[in-house]
Amino acid sequence: MLGKNKEKPTEERPVAPQVDMSRIPAHIAIIMDGNGRWATSRGLPRTMGHREGAQKFREIASFCQEIGVKVLTVYAFSTENWKRPAEEVSAIFQLFQEYLREAKEELQTRNIRIRVLGDLTPFKGELRSLIDEVQSMNPSPNALVANIAVNYGGRDELVTAANAAFAEKGAPLTQEDVERHLYTAGQPDPDLIIRTSGEFRISGFLLWQCAYSELYFSELLWPDFTPEELLRAIASYQGRNRRFGGIK
Ligand code: IPE
Ligand code: IPE
Ligand code: MG
Repeated sequence: MLGKNKEKPTEERPVAPQVDMSRIPAHIAIIMDGNGRWATSRGLPRTMGHREGAQKFREIASFCQEIGVKVLTVYAFSTENWKRPAEEVSAIFQLFQEYLREAKEELQTRNIRIRVLGDLTPFKGELRSLIDEVQSMNPSPNALVANIAVNYGGRDELVTAANAAFAEKGAPLTQEDVERHLYTAGQPDPDLIIRTSGEFRISGFLLWQCAYSELYFSELLWPDFTPEELLRAIASYQGRNRRFGGIK
């Protein structure tokens, strides 16, 4: 090992991020952005970028499981992404359906509990039954919870939750009333939110839940993301001073 490193000048060695494995964030959320640019820069159709992106999600979910993350939430398709060309939208749902089919077969052995966050009303037929089946599966209690946000928008979630809470008990509503009706009800808020592809915005992701999340922006396009970059984000997170409005 040492011998190998000696051959390379220091500046060329990849820096191993210093991560305290006893303080891994419980809930990591990722805005998986940059699939289209990844494909276009290689002269490929955008849909190939989505295919690579789906593969990357599998890799990063396993890695999160290995390092002890409890909840991983990923933004896969927003309520605004319907604006895209029909072929691209349909390719994305094709990939989502492929993933769910595979998950249905392997969920027990992979030890992942899948939740789909978002407005599911437009989903019918096989896609809808797969979502329902996969969500009702019961892997072991220590399984990684993987929330996949599909047809998800933070504003849409808040309006839906407020309406449901109001129908249940009428005004005035408390924060707890709203929280109980969010797609993430019962789950902890994200500790760390990562966005890839060098964009510095939230694009409607987890608007309620991100109130005190730490943010990390990665230059890497999602298909180029690596476990090492995830560790870099975690190392950065571990260096932050979370005050939640108090004094520390
Ligand atoms: C993220 O990649 C995936 C979705 C939004 C569905 P993009 O498709 O947004 O990729 P870019 O941002 O155009 O490169
Ligand atoms: C955010 O990415 C949504 C997902 C990653 C699913 P977009 O590519 O849709 O966001 P904008 O349009 O650049 O803000
Ligand atoms: Mg994008």
